[in-house]
Amino acid sequence: MPFVLCVHQPLDKSISSIGASRLRLSRIPALDCFSLLASRSPDCSEPGPGLVSGFSPPIGAPPAPFRGTVVAQLPAPLTAATPSATASRLPDRPLRVAILGATGAVGQELLDLLEEREFPVGELIPLASPRSAGQPLHWRGHDYTISEVTAEAFAGVDLVLASAGGSTSRTWAPVAAKAGAVVIDNSSAFRMDPAVPLVVPEVNPEAAFAHQGIIANPNCTTILMTLALAPLAARRSIRRVVVSTYQSASGAGARAMEELRQLSRTVLDGGVPVSEVLPYPLAFNLFLHNSPLQDNAYCEEELKMLYETRKIMGLPDLRVSATCVRVPVLRAHSEAINVEFEAPFPVEEARALLAAAPGVELIEDFGSNRFPMPTDVTGRDPVAIGRIRQDLSHPQALEFWLCGDQIRKGAALNAIQIAELLQSPTSGGR
Ligand code: A2P
Repeated sequence: MPFVLCVHQPLDKSISSIGASRLRLSRIPALDCFSLLASRSPDCSEPGPGLVSGFSPPIGAPPAPFRGTVVAQLPAPLTAATPSATASRLPDRPLRVAILGATGAVGQELLDLLEEREFPVGELIPLASPRSAGQPLHWRGHDYTISEVTAEAFAGVDLVLASAGGSTSRTWAPVAAKAGAVVIDNSSAFRMDPAVPLVVPEVNPEAAFAHQGIIANPNCTTILMTLALAPLAARRSIRRVVVSTYQSASGAGARAMEELRQLSRTVLDGGVPVSEVLPYPLAFNLFLHNSPLQDNAYCEEELKMLYETRKIMGLPDLRVSATCVRVPVLRAHSEAINVEFEAPFPVEEARALLAAAPGVELIEDFGSNRFPMPTDVTGRDPVAIGRIRQDLSHPQALEFWLCGDQIRKGAALNAIQIAELLQSPTSGGR
């Protein structure tokens, strides 16, 4: 019988003292405690990837004795039975793949990437809202028709790639998972659910295999930042991250991108831009991220960067302070990141680590003052990093800048890499 243990201190090596051989650890932000989910499902006795998911204690943190209490039963798993390590994989054959949100910006990119990466799609099921039902879709030389999402649409489906917003995912992801599909969900609906892995394949690939039918694709800015933080954190413990983002219109969807195009024309023609999709006109303008403000004066997007980074990197104490800004760029996000470590981090060492990190490329030419720009990464896979430098105000902190395509690595590419990982566990986010 699974159970939940809450401990009011960081968990570290002492987790072994509870005698559970397989543990999944995650943060429950609302309660300010850590939940430790110990599963006694049949697969617990088998070695396999991902059964300790995404948790690595802060390097150098003193071991603390475990003090836990059983506080709640786990909710029923999303699928009838907790899958074994083998069942958690995708079958090694052409798959029936449903795209939920096939008409959206990320949905379109998913379709492009499935083709570009020659993902083994045996049958494609493009799904969207009733507004788009019946629309034609041409993909890989075949004609398809967009269907309205229904429970029947998931019958026999192996994989659902969902990018149709949180409420659509909350309704349909559990239905699809119950029907036997693996759902990789791009919305924020399940990201902080302790039973749902939150995966960046280059950072915590093992977490993917602990899924119970749903895997969450992280927030776009968080994916990009963790690609840079993970190789550095593997060398020296991170104390604190301060990040400012410069987020493109694509993060708000295809309609926001079109609004930016149209309102830019309006301004150039001397007109007064009036926005309908975004809260303010983005053309020749910028504004603080419009996700709901919390009582602590951070917006939801900024807190996603805190909590999701902690969950992905398995660093439940990591301090992250983010300021998220929407800028008039079509589809690539940028971030200015300051990282404070437990000890000084020579710039050259950091540069070498980032240059060798999977999914990362350096764009750094100090001689000509040339560093990453959104246009460098638009339509491309890697996250570009540059201007890595010592923070003049702190001997143990580094500063750097990054750009990444929000629709690709920030959303669609990461989702497809997770699917590739589940089908071929050694791919590790190629
Ligand atoms: P539709 O085009 O029919 O509205 P974006 O993030 O680029 O705005 O895309 C959102 C995607 O989610 C679109 O494909 C959209 O379909 C889809 N979508 C929105 N609401 C629903 C819904 N209630 N059910 C299914 N798909 C939805």
